[in-house]
Amino acid sequence: MAIVSSDFNMAAHLLSQGEIVAIPTETVYGLAANAFDENAVRKIFEIKKRPLNHPLILHCADIGQLKKYVLEIPTQAVQLMHAFSPGPITFILKKKDTIADYITANKHTVAVRIPAHPITQKLLSTIPFPLVAPSANPYGSISPTQAFHVEKFFANEIPMILDGGACSQGIESTIVGFEVNKINIYRLGTITAEDIKKVTNTETEIAIKESDVSIAPGLSLRHYAPSTHTVLSDNVQEDIRQYADKKIALLNFNKQLDIESIFIQKVLSPSSSIHEAAKNLYAYLHELDNSNAQVIIVEKLPNTPIGNALNDRLYRASVK
Ligand code: TXA
Ligand code: MG
Repeated sequence: MAIVSSDFNMAAHLLSQGEIVAIPTETVYGLAANAFDENAVRKIFEIKKRPLNHPLILHCADIGQLKKYVLEIPTQAVQLMHAFSPGPITFILKKKDTIADYITANKHTVAVRIPAHPITQKLLSTIPFPLVAPSANPYGSISPTQAFHVEKFFANEIPMILDGGACSQGIESTIVGFEVNKINIYRLGTITAEDIKKVTNTETEIAIKESDVSIAPGLSLRHYAPSTHTVLSDNVQEDIRQYADKKIALLNFNKQLDIESIFIQKVLSPSSSIHEAAKNLYAYLHELDNSNAQVIIVEKLPNTPIGNALNDRLYRASVK
């Protein structure tokens, strides 16, 4: 049974021994291993049942450490790092030969990020190696944002979950890649295209390429999915009528509905804050998925940059 503890020295020790430890980040929890320990990294793929051609993100303590593993950092990436790292942003950069193919799935690039969570910052500055860490969920299912979510998935497979409380952002990092005068966003997170635009040169084009599976294979369609049938709804009242013969779990953006036939409901942000909704989304999906409901109806979130990042995940969660 996994120990759940905030003792980062214990986590450091286990990781140096080749063990897998779940770690908190500001986005979601990750399943971490020493990036230079091939057996440990392979164990992550096995535990997650993740296809081997899905590359992993390298987590570094700071820009100094990150520089050791990439060939070059384009100017736009330097600007973004100074603005947002440590934080919920991942950079796809050309890798040095020291970064093995088992991390990058044979790509010439490596995804790198500097997580901001204080306990994981301490952990990363304690150990002499970077960590690879995919989200700590079985392939295709909902990412964990609290230690007990990881415990439910992997208590018997890993020795320790480093407990850092609830993740402050709640959805995975924004992933960016670079071309001349162009930044491609492969996954949207709480750092938006507008945020990126503000800190880069005006002539830089910003393109959203969220479904480019050939570049970022982990972004294949069905993903982030509860085991309960999930419906992303443009019209909640209508879908509640449609599923009247089922036990309905309802996940609304900002208002509680007074409808007797609803079995259980949660409100993502009573004050209509999209950041609060992001923070709560996966935690509430975990809760509703464990509630014995037969269908989860999720109200589509407002058409804002972060609202769309959440809708993209919900759409993938609802694909059969
Ligand atoms: O917020 C996050 O990024 C979390 C926390 C734990 O850091 N990690 C995370 O990892 O979401 P994962 O493995 O679930 O998603 C990583 C994504 C995948 O879609 C993968 O295809 C993409 O990053 N990726 C990794 N390396 C890449 C590369 N060299 N080129 C393109 N995409 C890459
Ligand atoms: Mg993931």
